[in-house]
Amino acid sequence: MREVRAVLRTSFIDAAQVTFQKYAAGFVAFEDLRSRGIARRELLRKLLLAHAYKLGELLDIPLVDADLGDSAAIRALRAVDLGLDLLTEAPQATVRMAMALQICTKARVLASLLVFETANLDEVCNHSLKSIMTSSEEFYRIQKLPPYVFAVINEMKAKARAAQLDVVDLGMGNPDGPTPEPVVKKLIDAVRNPRNHRYSVSRGIPRLRAEIVKRYRTKYGVELDSETEAIVTIGAKDALAHLLFAVIGPGDAVVSPNPAYPIHQYGVVMAEGHACMLPMPTPAEFLNQLEHLYNTSSRKPRMILISFPHNPTTQCVDLQFFRDIVALAARHGTMIVHDFAYADLGFDGYEPPSILQVEGAKEIAVEIYSMSKSFNMAGWRVGFCLGNKKMIGALARIKSYLDYGVFQPIQIASIIALRECAKDTEKIRAVYQKRRDVLISGLDHSGWPVESPRGTMFVWAPIPEKYRAKGSLEFSKLLLEKALVAVSPGIGFGPLGEGHVRFALIENQHRTRQAIKAIQQFLKK
Ligand SMILES: Cc1ncc(COP(=O)(O)O)c(C=O)c1O
Repeated sequence: MREVRAVLRTSFIDAAQVTFQKYAAGFVAFEDLRSRGIARRELLRKLLLAHAYKLGELLDIPLVDADLGDSAAIRALRAVDLGLDLLTEAPQATVRMAMALQICTKARVLASLLVFETANLDEVCNHSLKSIMTSSEEFYRIQKLPPYVFAVINEMKAKARAAQLDVVDLGMGNPDGPTPEPVVKKLIDAVRNPRNHRYSVSRGIPRLRAEIVKRYRTKYGVELDSETEAIVTIGAKDALAHLLFAVIGPGDAVVSPNPAYPIHQYGVVMAEGHACMLPMPTPAEFLNQLEHLYNTSSRKPRMILISFPHNPTTQCVDLQFFRDIVALAARHGTMIVHDFAYADLGFDGYEPPSILQVEGAKEIAVEIYSMSKSFNMAGWRVGFCLGNKKMIGALARIKSYLDYGVFQPIQIASIIALRECAKDTEKIRAVYQKRRDVLISGLDHSGWPVESPRGTMFVWAPIPEKYRAKGSLEFSKLLLEKALVAVSPGIGFGPLGEGHVRFALIENQHRTRQAIKAIQQFLKK
């Protein structure tokens, strides 16, 4: 059965690919014809039907040989059908184009699910596809970005607060603590110097690059050249989005675990790459899936995009995981990007490893380090991209067109953070660990047992059985409405995040206890 599923899975991937490529080619042809005045509606209708037919045809072939009673396969097919139905109803050409892309992505996710059956697949598909339908903008790239799921909760939170209700906000991963005092002081000094008011350099000032390189040498034993192997970025998000933009081209496959931090998925979509999401019940299983993908897919991934400690699942890895994934990627000539946003948030003595500690990792990998969580500097927007020269060169080139770097006084103050604030990082880490303990034991007492994370600033909680069928968005709305506690719905992190909610440890212990009490009462009803 596993082999049949493997065949099915590859066929789904290929079918989705063929459809998308043809549709994209058709769209270009359409744009061309439109300028010559040919009726657009009719042409698009024909194109759609042709591609729907082709997809059906392609999907039929493996299904004849497969077990037609396989419920995951049937549900996957139904979802693709539903997508195609919705597609033909869509009012605008650009909406259809975006939907075709989304459906293909969906087909690929569904294909992966053939290996890991998921309970409420129909709901997941419906939700994702409908969210595309509700989008009405016409801009080409914007159409590819579905409405932000977290906005629903944010809006409810704002309304409750406007009505003077006391919402405990465990939603967004936005650190509540202050930036270390010496960093603030240095910023104030530096800002008074007019020389720092000019444009800075987009790659970052040399002294800051030298400081991050020093940190990697002392903390991880990794040697980097501050000129060619380190660049300062406007936070990790800038690094991720622009690196993808720089090195990924149309159709390049980028593999990442799902659920994931949204830019990991949509950065690829924006770069017109092919976001290939693999489930990650555990990092080891993700690795198995990746190996399987290499063995069965005709198209080799161009990049693997990972992040440990992982947001939102909180999964952590040891250095051996990185050794394995570097070896695998190197064998196939695939680039690796490791987003190390939670580098310093390991608990109970766990120290998250850097991928650059693996010998030879620099040949194929870069790591992205962020000041946001380690030093409570989320609003300052400072991060780094480190490692592979070629990728860093590409990022530097694209950034030289896009920005003039982080405001220089912020860069100067960041040097102080890296050089003098190790104790502050330790305190920040300890604060999250205590809050984690309060939340985990409180949830446990409320009859909601959740695994305690070894890292990040989050708790990833499966929705209690009684509410699971509602889905994560509805459950999050209920928590806000009935318990005045804001959390992030798992679906916001991708289709495989369904069935979970994420708590961010950004309220103090007292407020966290207040949230637990309210959740306890809500669950009792
Ligand atoms: C995995 C991950 N990467 C990157 C970021 C953003 O980091 P930065 O503030 O450096 O842009 C976050 C923030 O929540 C994150 O969770």
